[in-house]
Amino acid sequence: MEKFYITTPIYYVNDKPHVGHAYTTVLADVLARWHKLQGKKVFFSAGTDEHGAKIETAAIGDGKNPQEFVDEKAKAFQLAWKKLNISYDNFIRTTDKKHEQAAAGVLNILHEKRLVYQDTYKGLYCQGCEQYKTEDDLIDGKCADHQVKPELMEEKSYFFNLAKFGNMVLEKIETDEFKIEPAERKNEIISFIQGGLKDISISRKNVKWGIPLPFDKDFTIYVWIEAFLSYLTSLGWKGSPNKLPAMWPPDIQLMSKDILRVHATIWPALLLALDIPLPQKIFVHGYFMANGQKMSKSLGNVIWPEEMVEKFGVDGARYLLMSSLAPGHDGDISWEKLTEKYNADLANGLGNLISRTIVLAQKINFKCGVDKNKGISERIKNLYEEIKPREILEEIWKEINWANKYIEEKKLWELVKNDEDEAKKVLDELFITIGDVAENLRPFMPDIAQRILQILESGEMTKGEVLFPRV
Ligand code: MSP
Repeated sequence: MEKFYITTPIYYVNDKPHVGHAYTTVLADVLARWHKLQGKKVFFSAGTDEHGAKIETAAIGDGKNPQEFVDEKAKAFQLAWKKLNISYDNFIRTTDKKHEQAAAGVLNILHEKRLVYQDTYKGLYCQGCEQYKTEDDLIDGKCADHQVKPELMEEKSYFFNLAKFGNMVLEKIETDEFKIEPAERKNEIISFIQGGLKDISISRKNVKWGIPLPFDKDFTIYVWIEAFLSYLTSLGWKGSPNKLPAMWPPDIQLMSKDILRVHATIWPALLLALDIPLPQKIFVHGYFMANGQKMSKSLGNVIWPEEMVEKFGVDGARYLLMSSLAPGHDGDISWEKLTEKYNADLANGLGNLISRTIVLAQKINFKCGVDKNKGISERIKNLYEEIKPREILEEIWKEINWANKYIEEKKLWELVKNDEDEAKKVLDELFITIGDVAENLRPFMPDIAQRILQILESGEMTKGEVLFPRV
């Protein structure tokens, strides 16, 4: 049986999940469900990144001890994913003891391989990114992502010999052995690596909230290094490079551009250093802004996925998320636009199609099986390969719009009164189309798709049932 291993980034638990995290996670869920429907053995990993200075600071700000704080926040992520009907197979937390042990083991291996040495780190650090920065990374002296001046840091540190792996990583990316998609992102990374990679600090002296460095307990492991390893420990890996889980390597690792660079340099270098096969593909989706601005709590413009679920229902929220980013583009998201799209595509489009078709079919007691589907089109299969969720939905909506128009053109409400034979023919086509639509919607809107298939089979809707109440 073909396997399919997909990962989301493990999110920082300094705050609860917002629409950006939800986008990546729903996309992973859609792909996991799709590949499962294709008969593959699927493993879908999600989780939380719980160590490091940023989390420590957030916990202090909340007046909590870090463990209590991360327990609470990790629960908030799990709850949000439950509300969004996310079907992950494992939720990895970096404070899981097993993860901590495996990560410490890896540091020992790197140390024994002499890929780690001690020196002094002197430079800039952005706590928001949990990343070391160079002057080139800054705009007006500030981190572009967090709008804050990075702190100047000087401390004793252990370094990983990243420079040594630059050319090897470059070759894997250029030859697509380690794919980075879309192509613009791949090219960006190639020129970045061609500029040369520097060794990186992999320990922190003054950060207590972390995994102790096994060969020098005065330090903790730099949070990114252990975070990457979660992609392995989520599969139950114990830290031994020659005992890899059967699902390894990931077929797709999803993320946005904010964390591509580290994923395309440090991450593959670590794996090469350990002689572990690289992921097949990193897929980078667009970045959400809110009304043209970066979403932030202080600006009060964050869209919380749980509010989307309350307003639009779980499948409504999933639909809106998946149709909101064009491939390779950043997206602007607002309640206004979401509501408009919900009403147009779901309340008026799909919802209306089902209810009017069923009402008219009942007038002449029309029943039709749901076994006449055309199956999934090649075009849609290709769009899944290219990871274009919005385009898949657009394909499905072509059918829905066609069907709604067909009812109008044929004046079906008149046919059921004066030409039953013709009405049956039209209804037959409509039922087949709707059945097809429902099949196609399974990965995106699992509950609604199931419900539509039941409705088609029974030819009835429950009294007062509205699939998508207008908002
Ligand atoms: N903890 C690290 C990842 C470690 S993975 C080994 C981290 N966490 S994060 O909470 O900041 O998550 C970043 C990721 O969340 C992005 O790459 C993307 O998947 C998702 N998004 C968060 N905000 C986003 C937007 N505004 N828009 C789209 N997705 C973004 O980085």
